[in-house]
Amino acid sequence: MTNPNYNSASERKIIILDTTLRDGDQSALGTMYPSEKMKVAKHLEKMGVERIEAGFAAAKGNYEFMSGVAQTLKNSWLSGLSRCVNRDTERTYEAYKNYQKRMIHLFLPTSEIQVSAKMKKTDDELIKITRSSVTYARSFFDKVEFTAEDAVRSNWDFLKRVYFEAINSGATIINVADTVGYAETEEFGRLVKNVAGYVKIINPNVEISIHCHNDLGLAVANTIAGIKNGAQQVEVTINGLGERAGNCSLEQIVAFSKVHPESFSTNVLSGEIYKASKMVSRFTGVRNDSAPVVGKSAFAHKSGIHQHGVINNKESYEVLRAEDFGRKSEIVIGPHSGYHGVIAKARELGFEISQEQAALILDVVSEKVQREEQKRFDDEDIRKILMEKVLALAV
Ligand code: KIV
Ligand code: ZN
Repeated sequence: MTNPNYNSASERKIIILDTTLRDGDQSALGTMYPSEKMKVAKHLEKMGVERIEAGFAAAKGNYEFMSGVAQTLKNSWLSGLSRCVNRDTERTYEAYKNYQKRMIHLFLPTSEIQVSAKMKKTDDELIKITRSSVTYARSFFDKVEFTAEDAVRSNWDFLKRVYFEAINSGATIINVADTVGYAETEEFGRLVKNVAGYVKIINPNVEISIHCHNDLGLAVANTIAGIKNGAQQVEVTINGLGERAGNCSLEQIVAFSKVHPESFSTNVLSGEIYKASKMVSRFTGVRNDSAPVVGKSAFAHKSGIHQHGVINNKESYEVLRAEDFGRKSEIVIGPHSGYHGVIAKARELGFEISQEQAALILDVVSEKVQREEQKRFDDEDIRKILMEKVLALAV
C-alpha cells in the first residue's frame, strides 16, 4: 500500500508496529472493551499499519481478544507479547495459529535493577532462558521479536551476550527498549547504532526495532534518533497512549516523515490517523487537546499576526498540511486576534464585513474577557456578536 498524499517519500521505509492494543491498553488512564479494541484493530489495518501487537496472551481476557482479531484481520501481521516462558508462547500460538501472518514478541529484563526486582536470576541463567525461550518460540513462529527490557539501563557487555544468544537461537527482530523513558536522545541514537552494528555482523537479516517510553517527554525525539541510527521497526501507539507517560506516538512519527521526507517514510495512510485518534480518545476517555497533529488546537490560530500569515499563506505557520491528516486549518477568535482573522471568520459564517465592523467585534470580545465574563468564543458566539452588536447597528 502506498501513501497518495506525498510524492517525495524517502526510499527508506520504516515498519510500524502499533502497540495501542497492548502497551496502550496498559495506560493507567483508560481501558478499552474488547469490542472497542476490535474497532481499533480494524482501523489500524485499514490505515496500513504493518504489524499490530494485539495483546499479551497471558493476561486475562487478552487471549480471547487475540483469537478474535486473528479471525477478523487479513493483511497486517499480528504480534503477541510473551514472557520468556513456554506456556506464554503456547498461548500466543493458540490464539494466532490459524492466522498466517503471525509473530511473537518475547521480552526479558536485562538491567540489573529490573532483574533483581523481578527475576532474581544470574546472568548465565538469563542467557539460558533466552536460548530456550527463543528456540521454543521459533518452533511455532517464523518471526520472533526479542526485547531486552530496559536495554537502555543495561550493561553493554551483557546486552550483547543476550542479543547474541537470541539471534543464534532464531530471533528475527531485535528490540531496544527504553522501558522507563530514561534515555537522552544522542545517547539513545548511539546505543541503537552500536546494537545495529553488532547485530548485523551476526546476521544481516535480523531487523532492528526500538520501543521508547515518554517519561521525560523524549519518546518521539528518541525514536527519530533511533531511526537515524539504524532502527528498521518502530513501536508506537495512537495518541502516544501507554504505561505511565505513554509511548512514542504513531501520529507524530508519521507527521515527521511528511515534513522531512528525506529522512524516512512509512506505509501509514495519514488521512486515517485523526479517525484512529478520535476512536482511541473516545474509547479510553483520554484526550489531549494540545497534542501535535491530532489535538484540537493543532491547526488552530488565535493571534492576529499568525492569522494574518496563514490567511495569506498557510505554510507561514503550519508545517503540516492539515488535510493530509484529516484535519482543517482553523481561525479561532480571541482577544489576541486581529481584523484579518475576524473578517475571515465572518466570511466563513457567510458575512462580508468591513475592517471597522471587525474592529467592533474585537472590542466586544476583548471587553468580555476584561470583565471576566467569557473566555472562549466559538463560531456561534461570533455569529451572535456579529448579528447583535454589529449588523444590528448597520440597519
Ligand atoms: O516498555 C517495554 O519495555 C515494553 C516491552 C515489553 C517491549 O513494553
Ligand atoms: Zn513499553
